[in-house]
Amino acid sequence: MSHLPEDGRGWNDLAAALEQRRSGDADWQHGRTALFIFNAGEQVRQVGEQAYLAYMAENALGLRAFPSLTAMENDIVAIAHELMNAPADAAGYFTTGGTDSITMAVKACRDWAVARGQDGVGAEIVVPETAHPAFNKAAHLMNLKVVRVPVAADYTADPAAMAEAVTDRTIMMVGSAPCFPYGLVDPIPEIAQIAMDRDLWCHVDACVGGYFLPFAEQVGVAVPAWDFRLPGVCSISADLHKYGYAPKGASTVLYRSAELAKHQPFSFDVWPSGVMTTPTLHGTRPGGAIAGAWAVLNHLGYKGFRQTTRDVLKARSAIEAGVAQLGFQSVGQPQLGLIALTHPTKDVMAIADAMAAKGWVSSRTAVPPGIHLMLSPAHKQYAGEYLADLEAAAAAAPDATSTVSVGSYT
Ligand SMILES: Cc1ncc(COP(=O)(O)O)c(C=O)c1O
Repeated sequence: MSHLPEDGRGWNDLAAALEQRRSGDADWQHGRTALFIFNAGEQVRQVGEQAYLAYMAENALGLRAFPSLTAMENDIVAIAHELMNAPADAAGYFTTGGTDSITMAVKACRDWAVARGQDGVGAEIVVPETAHPAFNKAAHLMNLKVVRVPVAADYTADPAAMAEAVTDRTIMMVGSAPCFPYGLVDPIPEIAQIAMDRDLWCHVDACVGGYFLPFAEQVGVAVPAWDFRLPGVCSISADLHKYGYAPKGASTVLYRSAELAKHQPFSFDVWPSGVMTTPTLHGTRPGGAIAGAWAVLNHLGYKGFRQTTRDVLKARSAIEAGVAQLGFQSVGQPQLGLIALTHPTKDVMAIADAMAAKGWVSSRTAVPPGIHLMLSPAHKQYAGEYLADLEAAAAAAPDATSTVSVGSYT
């Protein structure tokens, strides 16, 4: 068991200990992770690191002490609004991650519904079954109910089935851009229209695509409509620490109007220390995450993001072409950087196990049994290595079985 040392240790000793400890971790620096890490190369990583370190001590709870953090948050939200075609009256917040952004959007929607006379307890959120578990976490915290609706034959949300699931307790409808399991963009125009017709809040979970889809559209991908250009879209969650390549702890939650956004912050003053208003679940918030995200956005700019987007798309094309030769099929029609690969005859979980034994870290899908990859720009140069290992793993794999367990995501 570990214990606090009586005599403190010097940095050289600690640095060596850290290196030793991480020696068994995934080798993300060499493309082995298609999950958890978004690698846009050493230069981008260093910009994020330097900016993070420059603001490591600052606390974004104390905005009156650190107006520079407020200014950077405002810059980031303004950039997000520009990318996602928000109306002039839009508002938004910097948060620590996708789960935080989703939780706060759900809280804002719940408080909006309550302000309109609806009963908040047990209110319902209708989502496709592919929606991220963060909606269930948020609902669990707030005593709400998530209704998960099966997806259509193409693995995207089924708007008609979602419409059927709406009751008089429903407050929110959700679509993903894209969903995590298959990397597919849901039919947001239909979902947003249904929500608008019924006076419901439509949230688009673009945690993965928020900082990818705008650039994919610019480099010629036929991106389906998903953002504030659709009048029914009330809020969007978009993560900077995914395809925004920012240091971790960085996301945005954006609202069509200040009127909707005003339901997000929590304010309290019945204690001896005055009014405390916080926009997210957190009190203290790391200044480094804000500075890091601000620096990476400004370092990459439109040109840099178009290039990282092209690199991800090239990595996906190379892998898709290679796996097709090995008999794998993509689930649905992925257009972005996420793919789920299934095989008509082989035991895909056995293949995934063999790949894991070779150090490749990825996620899996249960239905259909698949290997899931969330690709970074850096994967462009590792596609060949991945395919060589996949070929060997597939050759050695037994035939498909009917029992599939995907194990743990985390
Ligand atoms: C579609 C989607 N939404 C939300 C999240 C949650 O993001 P975070 O892990 O930053 O909380 C993820 C994470 O992968 C995601 O893929």
